[in-house]
Amino acid sequence: MGGSELSPTWIEDRRQQSRTGTDNDHDDRQGRLLMGALPFESVEELQAVLGRYAYLADRGLATAVWLSLALNKPLLLEGEAGVGKTEVAKVLSELLDRRLVRLQCYEGIDASQALYEWDYSRQLIAVRAAQLGEHEADLFGPDFLVERPLLAAIRAGSQAVLLIDELDRADDEFEAFLLEVLSEFAVTIPEIGRVAAERPPAVIITSNRTRELHDALKRRCLYHWIDHPSVEREVDIVRVRAPEVPEVLARQVARAVARLRAMDVAKRPGVAETIDWSQALAFLGAERLEPDTASATLGALVKDHEDLELVRAKLDEVLEPE
Ligand SMILES: Nc1ncnc2c1ncn2[C@@H]1O[C@H](COP(=O)(O)OP(=O)(O)OP(=O)(O)O)[C@@H](O)[C@H]1O
Ligand SMILES: [Mg+2]
Repeated sequence: MGGSELSPTWIEDRRQQSRTGTDNDHDDRQGRLLMGALPFESVEELQAVLGRYAYLADRGLATAVWLSLALNKPLLLEGEAGVGKTEVAKVLSELLDRRLVRLQCYEGIDASQALYEWDYSRQLIAVRAAQLGEHEADLFGPDFLVERPLLAAIRAGSQAVLLIDELDRADDEFEAFLLEVLSEFAVTIPEIGRVAAERPPAVIITSNRTRELHDALKRRCLYHWIDHPSVEREVDIVRVRAPEVPEVLARQVARAVARLRAMDVAKRPGVAETIDWSQALAFLGAERLEPDTASATLGALVKDHEDLELVRAKLDEVLEPE
C-alpha cells in the first residue's frame, strides 16, 4: 500500500464512500473515523514520532498502528517474546498523552476481575454501621463499585489506550466475553445502569501464541505479526535505549544475537535481552565483543540452562562465524 493512499484525503474518500444508510449510521461512522483527532497526518509521521519516543517501528508496524487509530479498530499484535508488543501500547499512550489502562491476562481470569467488582469488605462495614443506627448507604451504588481495567477504559473512552496483554493466557470463555465488550464498548451494571464509551479507546491486544485466538475476535481487529528486528534496526534500538553502549559493541552484539537466534535454541532472546546484554558488557567497560566477557555475561542474554550450554559450546560461532 503506497503512502499516498493513507493520506487524509484517502480517509476522507473512505468516509464519503461510507455515507450510506441512516443518519445514525452516518454519524456513527463519522465518529469512528477520527483522522482529525490524530496528531499526525501520515504513517511516516507516526513512524518518526514513535522514534522520538524511543520506539523504532518498521513501516509495516507503523502502518498497522496508524490504521488502527484512524479506523478505530483494535490492533492485535502477535510475535515471539520480547519483540516489543507490549511496548507499543506504552509508547502510544505517552505520545498521544492518553492514560494507559492495562489488562494483564492470566489463566482463570474472569469477567469480574476484568470489568468491575463490589467492595465486599466496605459493604460489610456499611451494613454494620447501618445496624448501629448510623446513616444507611446504598450498598450497590457507585461508592462501593471497584473499577477494573475494562470499566476504567470504557469510562475513559478516547482518553485511554487499552492494553489487553497476553490474551492467549486467558481461556476461551474470557475471550468470548471480551469480544462482546470490544464490539459495544458498553456495559450494563444491573444495580447502576449502562455505562458506555462515547468514543472507544485505542486498543492494543497482544498474544504470544501459546494458543490460537478465535477467528471471531480476530475479525474485530487489525492484525500485525512483529518479527525480530533486522540487525540494523536492532543496533539502532540498542543505541536509542542504551546510549552508553559504544556503536561497535552494539553492532557486534546485534550480529551475535542474530546468529544465536538462528541456532537450535529453546528460547530465542528478545530485544530486551539484546539491550540487557549490551548494557552488561558496556558496564564492564567492554568496547568490543570478546569471548571472555561475552561468556561471563551470557546470563543477561540466555535464560535457559540447556541453551546456555549450547551457546557456550558454540561461542566462537556466535561471536564470529567461520
Ligand atoms: N522496536 C523497538 N524499539 C525500541 N525498543 C524496543 C523495540 N522492540 C523492543 N524494544 C525493547 O524491548 C523491550 C521488551 O519489549 P516488550 O516487553 O514490549 O516485548 P513483548 O513482545 O511484549 O515481550 P513478551 O512477549 O515477553 O511480553 C522493551 O521494553 C523495549 O525496551
Ligand atoms: Mg509483553
